[in-house]
Amino acid sequence: MEITVRPESMERITTPELAKQFIDEQVDEVRKQVGDKKVLLALSGGVDSSVVAALLIKAIGKQLVCVHVNHGLLRKGEPEQVISLFRDELDANLIYVDAADRFLKKLEGVEEPEKKREIIGEEFVRVFEEEARKLEGIDFLAQGTIYPDILESDGVKAHHNVGGLPEDIGFIGLVEPVKLLYKDEVRVVGTALGLPDNMVYRQPFPGPGLGVRCTGAITRDRLEAVRESDAILREEFAEAGLEGKVWQYFTAIPDIKSTGIKNNKRYMGWAVIIRAVNTVDAVTATVPELPLSLLFKIRDRIINEVDGVNRVLFDMSEKPVSTIEWE
Ligand code: XMP
Repeated sequence: MEITVRPESMERITTPELAKQFIDEQVDEVRKQVGDKKVLLALSGGVDSSVVAALLIKAIGKQLVCVHVNHGLLRKGEPEQVISLFRDELDANLIYVDAADRFLKKLEGVEEPEKKREIIGEEFVRVFEEEARKLEGIDFLAQGTIYPDILESDGVKAHHNVGGLPEDIGFIGLVEPVKLLYKDEVRVVGTALGLPDNMVYRQPFPGPGLGVRCTGAITRDRLEAVRESDAILREEFAEAGLEGKVWQYFTAIPDIKSTGIKNNKRYMGWAVIIRAVNTVDAVTATVPELPLSLLFKIRDRIINEVDGVNRVLFDMSEKPVSTIEWE
């Protein structure tokens, strides 16, 4: 495997001017590397792949083919945002694949978190490969690899990002324009490329998505409930001015029911857990103090608006010993 080392002389990209210089260099480099050939990119909508997409659109326009795979575990509104930004605004060559049913079928009855991650990762590569095979004459594969990906060794969980490299499709080369950049530099470059703040500064979202926030075997009702409650949480955090101030916040739904009362009758329903953490490197994490009035508002909205939920909990655990995600 090729080992890539960031030269010590490489200046940290902290300003729009330095970002523009980097972009100009990379545009030249990419044009030189790929010539008039086509390049394929798995565009998840995350910061790294979005910045690579914007950079390559600038460099080679329609020679770039983006594939956005919806594995059914994305947050509310995510595929729509990717399509509207890249296809409608940036005029990218974008293929949208709705593979939700296929992933959920594969995941049926699977309880073990690492097994779930493995299935999601493998199925993703399979869907991507199928799309790649349908397209003729694509020589290069682009990836949103960043420097920490190169430096990092695996931790407790299998953090394989969705979108692993399909190896045997016969690409003649890899295009990885941000592979020497740290995350903060990727963001500065993204902004200089004109990407909106809500994409460049969005909170981290795991490759296996809502799949690891719906603990145990994923069911459609809990998946829908986690998606809806997460959307409410994000909306209320944004309204309260907490966007970008709290590092990561989301909801999770464990696979246990508890008793509720409706029309004087007892019934069993799901519990939604609110998780919010601050961290520098995700290795340790603390829980921010949040206004109770905000938490009560989120509780009321979740109870009133999300089907099947009759309890809302706040996770006050720190990392360690609890991980950030529930699985
Ligand atoms: P944990 O739960 O290990 O999470 O404390 C640390 C950070 O990593 C994210 N995370 C993942 N990201 N694939 C990913 O791409 C994964 O399987 C995965 N698991 C956790 C998590 O959201 C947090 O930001």
